[in-house]
Amino acid sequence: MLASTFVLFGATGDLAKRKLFPALYNLHLDGKLPEPFAIFALGRKPYDDGLFREHAAESIKRFSRRGQADAGRIARFAERIHYQIVDATDAQSYASLKRAVEQRERELGLPGDRLFYLSVAPEHFGPIAAHIRSAGLAKEGAATRLVIEKPFGRDLESARALNASLNESFPAEDIYFIDHYLGKPMVQNLQSLIAANPVLRAVLSNKYVANVQITASETVGVETRAGYYDGAGALRDMFQNHMLQLLMMTARHSEIFDKRKIMESAYPISKDEAALHVVRGQYAAGVANGKALAAYRDEPGVAPDSETETYVAARVWLDDPIWRGVPFYIRTGKRLSEKSTRIVFVFKDPLEAHMPDKPVRNYLTIRVQPDESVDFQLNLLGMDGELQPVPLRFSTKTEEVPEAYERLLYDALAGDPTYFAHWDEIELAWKWVQPLQEAFASNLVPLHLYPAGSNGPEAANRLPEEQGFAWLEQDDLDVSPRETEPLAVGS
Ligand code: BG6
Repeated sequence: MLASTFVLFGATGDLAKRKLFPALYNLHLDGKLPEPFAIFALGRKPYDDGLFREHAAESIKRFSRRGQADAGRIARFAERIHYQIVDATDAQSYASLKRAVEQRERELGLPGDRLFYLSVAPEHFGPIAAHIRSAGLAKEGAATRLVIEKPFGRDLESARALNASLNESFPAEDIYFIDHYLGKPMVQNLQSLIAANPVLRAVLSNKYVANVQITASETVGVETRAGYYDGAGALRDMFQNHMLQLLMMTARHSEIFDKRKIMESAYPISKDEAALHVVRGQYAAGVANGKALAAYRDEPGVAPDSETETYVAARVWLDDPIWRGVPFYIRTGKRLSEKSTRIVFVFKDPLEAHMPDKPVRNYLTIRVQPDESVDFQLNLLGMDGELQPVPLRFSTKTEEVPEAYERLLYDALAGDPTYFAHWDEIELAWKWVQPLQEAFASNLVPLHLYPAGSNGPEAANRLPEEQGFAWLEQDDLDVSPRETEPLAVGS
């Protein structure tokens, strides 16, 4: 049953503006929202309905993948949004919210299946959940779901406390921890790509794969988020959640499909060993596309002596029958040379013994964003008798593909938890990351500065080099058919 009442805490925040209202609008355009559908936008700012609707319509125009399409339609969509001033710590606010929700549901004849989306700071999660429960905002006999945004805590202990406080008011099955990387179409496609292609299933294992590289690089810097980011850093902001979820999604296989088991199989890295397997960096001043970029420490709101990392690379080994002996190199950072999220399986080189100076490049690259594609890089003999890399490529047009938040909001409305992070995974990921956090805090892992606009700190090259490999950058992977020389075959 699709929930038909959507209640958004933190409606004046950045996420609501950039992602949530555009996602709801696109679901509406695609006919995926139940009709009628009620939206309550809650915040502390003194908007009224009219002003807030204008603000929401502006966000949709600016950020929706189909925002420019139809201003009239956007305005009509915004009409369903009701803005309510709410002080999340005050019981009275919840009592008046309840009256407003019930009245609207009566007017529209809605059954009272409600989705509460908590796009607020984590310290509010538990108290808001408790108020929803005690104010009677969860209707007897109807569905009530809570969607929780990251960050889910700062460390293992605070994440556990957070989960415990949510569980005081809601059963685990009603809590949806959102990790928007799990909503990205290519990430969701991984499973069927492998399951439905026996040829891939057969080769994706330690028998043929030399190493796996998972990269999420961003060109943006900290932007206006220093207040949050300087206290978090890349390890908490990206690594503990998105990167480890990508690892779990990439490494699961037909024998071990449960992501928890994959996370459990990751060899722990102790605080003392962290510097051997993990590299951290922070962007210094640099240049991209001819534009000078400020150093992280000079960004507004960042402490001038900040030791916060904006880049993390790690080498992870899995104690898993399929992946034992295959290093997973994982890296993420801000202010890098390109925006790209991709997973590359690097195959072993069968000719290495015969042609050590001419390595064969045979890769399977799954590009998650900004373009979605699956590339298989093969080698064929060229006119000159040398092996030429030749790509086989499938790619889709991203503007036609629903965004992560659209998919995930729909799933939450429908009560489908498949692509949400499960608490056990979150807990295991924090457990794995905890010694690294401690090592960073005690300065046991050096902080390398890297120029903004570069590929990150050179120190990170050591991670694959120690096994005789190298990071693959976009240039290494981009073999367009145009660049390919004529082939000897058939000529
Ligand atoms: C968010 C992080 O979870 O993911 C941001 O807090 C980061 O710092 C963002 O920029 C990246 O998301 P995407 O979808 O643009 O790769």
